[in-house]
Amino acid sequence: MPRKEFFGGNWKMHHTLKSALIFFRDMPPEKKGKEIVFFPPFPLLLPLKDKLGDSFRLGAQNCFYEEQGAFTGEVSAWMLAEEKIPYVIIGHSERRSLFGETDEIIRKKTEAALRNGLKPVICVGETLEQRDKNRHFKIIENQLAQALRDIDLPSAETLIVAYEPVWAIGTSRTASPAQAQEMHAWIRKNLQSFRLPSQDIRIIYGGSVKPSNIAELMACPDIDGALVGGASLNPKDFASIVHWEK
Ligand code: PGA
Repeated sequence: MPRKEFFGGNWKMHHTLKSALIFFRDMPPEKKGKEIVFFPPFPLLLPLKDKLGDSFRLGAQNCFYEEQGAFTGEVSAWMLAEEKIPYVIIGHSERRSLFGETDEIIRKKTEAALRNGLKPVICVGETLEQRDKNRHFKIIENQLAQALRDIDLPSAETLIVAYEPVWAIGTSRTASPAQAQEMHAWIRKNLQSFRLPSQDIRIIYGGSVKPSNIAELMACPDIDGALVGGASLNPKDFASIVHWEK
């Protein structure tokens, strides 16, 4: 079975409910063979779910690993599951660099997401300095091992790994298809060494994905989709990314 293409629209801290509804008015629906998930800011999740019904899939940009308690400002994986928000991004580089998320925190969040039946999109990526020092493979191997070694995975479709080189996020500088493919193949090899169903797990690329570069990225054998930031804020751009053509 070929891996189903996965596209995530990571809206980060953008859009109001009003502008989001205008967005969805202009966004064509999901097509067969593709999984398209929108990750709006927290306050938009439940009203959007209410208004959109089953026509679009939704996920959260983050979650906390404890279920309930005195954790001001946090939203738990359990709460997302209770509200039937099925997807969650974990370990985005902005969470790692701006909010101090360590590999250990990311591991706990991953376990909490899976324990609650959510589908986590686990982000990994190296900085420019790490790449310049030729440490990128080791860095990604470590991030993967910390987050995923010995996890209990109910099925291959449950987990999505996003390779997002930090130097390519929001910079207009995309990894070349060759650089991305090389790292995606490395990620798949690592998943295999953790005894995960590596051939069936989706590995998606993120970092300045645009309508103009999606086809060359998707032509790579180990690239199964994209996590899109800036270009997912506009329905026309995002639609031409998810419905890319050769
Ligand atoms: P970008 O962001 O597409 O704006 O580079 C990607 C991401 O951070 O997920």
